[in-house]
Amino acid sequence: MAEIGFETMAGWKRSHKCGMLTKENIGETVTLTGFTNSVRNLGGLIFINLRDISGIIQLTFDNDDVALCEKAAKVRGEYVLAVQGEVKARGEGAVNPNMPTGEIEIMVRELRILSVAQTPPFYIEENSDVKEELRLKYRYLDLRRPDMQRNIMLRHRVVKIARDFFDANGFLEIETPMLIKSTPEGARDYVVPSRVHPGSFYALPQSPQLYKQILMISGMDRYFQIAKCFRDEDLRADRQPEFTQIDMELSFVDMDDILSINEAFLKRVWKEVKGIDLETPFLRMPYAEAMDRFGSDKPDMRFGLELTDLSDLVAECGFQVFTGAIAGGGSVRAINAKGLGDKISRKNLDALTEFVKTYRAKGLAWMKINADGIQSPVAKFLDEATLNAVVERMNGEVGDVILIVADKNKVVYDALGALRCEIAKQHGLIDENDYKFLWVTDFPLLEYDEEENRFVAMHHPFTSPKTEDLPYLDTDPGRVRANAYDIILNGVELGGGSMRIYNTDLQEKMLGVLGFTKERAWEQFGFLLEAFKYGTPPHGGLAYGLDRLVMLIAGLDNIREIIAFPKVQNASELMSSAPSGIDPRQMAELHIAHVAEKKKEE
Ligand code: AMO
Ligand code: AMP
Repeated sequence: MAEIGFETMAGWKRSHKCGMLTKENIGETVTLTGFTNSVRNLGGLIFINLRDISGIIQLTFDNDDVALCEKAAKVRGEYVLAVQGEVKARGEGAVNPNMPTGEIEIMVRELRILSVAQTPPFYIEENSDVKEELRLKYRYLDLRRPDMQRNIMLRHRVVKIARDFFDANGFLEIETPMLIKSTPEGARDYVVPSRVHPGSFYALPQSPQLYKQILMISGMDRYFQIAKCFRDEDLRADRQPEFTQIDMELSFVDMDDILSINEAFLKRVWKEVKGIDLETPFLRMPYAEAMDRFGSDKPDMRFGLELTDLSDLVAECGFQVFTGAIAGGGSVRAINAKGLGDKISRKNLDALTEFVKTYRAKGLAWMKINADGIQSPVAKFLDEATLNAVVERMNGEVGDVILIVADKNKVVYDALGALRCEIAKQHGLIDENDYKFLWVTDFPLLEYDEEENRFVAMHHPFTSPKTEDLPYLDTDPGRVRANAYDIILNGVELGGGSMRIYNTDLQEKMLGVLGFTKERAWEQFGFLLEAFKYGTPPHGGLAYGLDRLVMLIAGLDNIREIIAFPKVQNASELMSSAPSGIDPRQMAELHIAHVAEKKKEE
């Protein structure tokens, strides 16, 4: 007999996966393989729970076979086993209703120990609360957990549905390059030094944007790709430095065509994965309305708590906090936490005030409507008519709490937009099984970047302006709306896209508004500007964050849970310890030097 841990499958073939066996298999002889989930040695009897990707089954070793039992007694957690035995019904008292295979067990006749295992640093079990750093360092063990395996399988299914769906709708899957030219717009690039072009660098793509547009010029008509994208930006729970898009581009379509094809896609995903029939078309809302009503361009539509503008009522109220904000071009807006008066204490209000301050609000004015009148720290600054007008505008009733922020519009929107989500979360106003999709449309084409002192594209520089707003491109660029749209699900931006500019002049003009001289525009984007001149179909597209899509389907709030090998906050990968230094020879070959090393030499 081979030594323990060095036995092989010679002459055996797996007949079933563990989790596939049912009462129907009773009486069959099966060959199973897997990891040791747990061992219970009762002296006379040994039970081993064997786990593979499909589930867990109980192996039973009877002490009639002394040699077999002695061998089974050597098995420890995570040992890799192969067994042959007979499927048996469990005795009545032994049925385990918590286990899908709990009505059966395998009476083992032969055991092979294919591989032994050290004691793992944490239990391999569902919903474990092990620290994330440890999980990621031993990701191969973490990925053995059934919930993680389900996440990875879910991701696979979503990708498979995407491929099938877009294939059936005339899209070609085309790969675009990973080593491309660096562009200054958008997020920071990851760059790769070129060995054969000293001093030159490739960038890793932030998205396949320009290539997919070029493919439309090439007449490919409809393109899609499961595309890896790289952005050197600060990480958050729903952001990774490398992530995956379901990316598409279509020729000879308008926005409605793109939205409805994507509604059909999402409908199919939800039906196949969750068995849910989504209602289409989804709600559409212009950006301006989303901001006005929800303080956000990605509003969570599962609850109300909408914003109300009070500026006209308080513009001359004499309370400097309010009047000052309005005089400075800002506004005073509020939400009504309806009926939550009993639940929101003074202490809660102090905490909510601190909460809005993290969004740069200077304070939170509140009004509690009690049976005996209005309780509010700002009541003394307002006359009775103003107070009553505010209460009336807010539909205030006894038991309500009105929460007011006065500031620049951006701060008011950010603070109240986040506050409505926070209150909904704190007070259980969110139905976790509800999926509220929303198209936000008519985004501004540009936003002013205070740091750079210039306009930047809100989506990207290739997005087309609305025809009716074109005249403002010269006179009032901030006012121009774009043919751009985002798909929002439960307050998360799932994806975004736009109809594109498709002629050289307008593209040059757009780049001009962004501060490019003609020379620099051609240097950077000459290939696109040139390509437009050879006949360009009107085109547009969209890209989903695949990671976010899968995260939301799985009901999770962190994309790291649905990425096999994610990076952490500081952009490192804890299992392999990337990034790392490289060999000085490799550096020399690439014609690069490390600044710190160089300084040392000098
Ligand atoms: P955009 O930049 O909006 O559009 O990206 C599309 C979608 O990709 C996801 N996403 C991310 N997911 C995880 N980590 C990140 N760092 C990250 N950044 C973006 C989001 C987002 O909605 N080329 C255009 C699309 C187009 O116009 O067709 C683009 O990349 O879910
Ligand atoms: P103060 O006069 O600064 O003590 O503020 C009086 C009340 O107004 C306090 O309850 C503050 O939280 C609130 N407040 C202060 N600044 C703002 C603001 N920008 N928006 C709304 N409320 C504010």
